[in-house]
Order: sequence, then C-alpha cells, then structure tokens
Amino acid sequence: MTKAPPVIAIDGPSGSGKGTIARRVASTLGWHLLDSGALYRLLALAATRRGISLDNAAALADLAENLDVRFAADGDGEGLIWLDGKPVRDELRTEEAGRGASTVAGLQPVRTALLALQRSFCKPPGLVADGRDMGTHVFPEAGLKVFLTASAEERARRRHKQLNDKGIDVSLAALSRDIEDRDRRDSERSVAPLRPAGDARILDSSGQSIEAVTNTVLDWARELLAEDL
Ligand code: C5P
Repeated sequence: MTKAPPVIAIDGPSGSGKGTIARRVASTLGWHLLDSGALYRLLALAATRRGISLDNAAALADLAENLDVRFAADGDGEGLIWLDGKPVRDELRTEEAGRGASTVAGLQPVRTALLALQRSFCKPPGLVADGRDMGTHVFPEAGLKVFLTASAEERARRRHKQLNDKGIDVSLAALSRDIEDRDRRDSERSVAPLRPAGDARILDSSGQSIEAVTNTVLDWARELLAEDL
C-alpha cells in the first residue's frame, strides 16, 4: 500500500493566526495548503449569489459537491481564489462572509459534502491544513496537530488590523462582538464543534510574534518528520 502524504493540521478559533502560520509553514516546507475556512466562505457566497437560503441544507450540500473553485499560491500573499471562474478573494474576507460561513458550517450535510474536496488537497510532498476540525474530523491521522489560540482581545485587534490594512472599515467593538458570537456558535454547535483533538499540541500565540509561532510549529514538524511524520 502506498503511504499517504504527511499532514500538519492547524486548528483554532477565528483570529488566532492560523491562516498566516499555516501559509508560512507550508511555504517553508514546500507543501500544499488547505484554507478550509475559505471553502465554507465560498459556499456561503456562492449560495447567496444563487439565491439559495443559508439554512437549506440539501441545496447547500448539492452546491458544495459542485463548487467550481480554484486556488493558486501568490508567494507570501493570502493566495488567489476563483469562484465560477472569477476572482473573489476580498469578498471572502468580509465579516458577512464569515458569518455566512459559520451558518452553513453548522449543517452536517454541508460538512459531509465538503469532506472529499478537502481531502483532495492531500498530495505529495505534504499538506498543511488550516481550520476548525482538521485534526478532529477531516485528517484524524495527521502526524502533527496544533491547536492555536490567543486571547479574544488580541484576536479582535489582529482582525481589525488585517481588515484596516485592506481598507475595510469596521469598529473594534463590533469586531469583538462578532468574534465572540462566532466563537460561541463554532464551539457550541452539535456538529464538529471547535475543540482540540485529544492528541493536539496547544499553542497560545498571545504576545508572540508570527515568526516565533511559525518557528515553534516548524520545530515540531521537523521533530516529527525526523520520526517519519
Ligand atoms: O477560518 P475562517 O474564519 O475563514 O472560517 C470561517 C467559518 O467557517 C468559521 O467561523 C467556522 O464556522 C467555519 N469553519 C468550520 N470548519 C472549518 C473551517 C471553518 O466550521 N474547518
């Protein structure tokens, strides 16, 4: 039997820095990257554009199985994403898209429909997968599972800066409320709730630089690679 490519799963709440860390780890190792949150955001966006209600589980699952989406790397940037052949990246990062993603993500048929698409990203030489349930559901066999956290205030501040840098104007207070609501929905939902896998390493990034956190994950990855991840 051929051996499956190695996987590093990075899960955690919104604004914990998963996206940035996953991108840097993938680029340093030369591995593929899966931003699973983008898939939920894309699905919510595609549904809204087609007039499909975000609580219509059957129609959403059907759409999820037929999503016309393409990803490409763009150096150290956030990556490029096309939906139905058109670039969509900035629309995906809005708080509205985040809320829509969190709504459709609570539907089991949607999560099941997106499983195969997510697993198709696992190709040699390896995959870094970022999300909420990478270590618990999508890649339970991952050789390294990291659960990245940070205090709610710090996460709101980071998200605020990220959006401001893109010229998106939103108040810090509104953002904090949104992050807390989303955390609650993601952790309390009955389907694939946000929680660390039993064998995940917990990494609190509060007060740590991006470089420091990236290096910790890379050290762990190399340790495990030496033992054949
Ligand atoms: O990570 P990001 O903020 O892009 O995720 C948007 C939303 O998608 C999350 O709030 C969560 O509800 C959902 N999600 C999920 N499972 C994943 C990734 C994201 O439920 N693996």
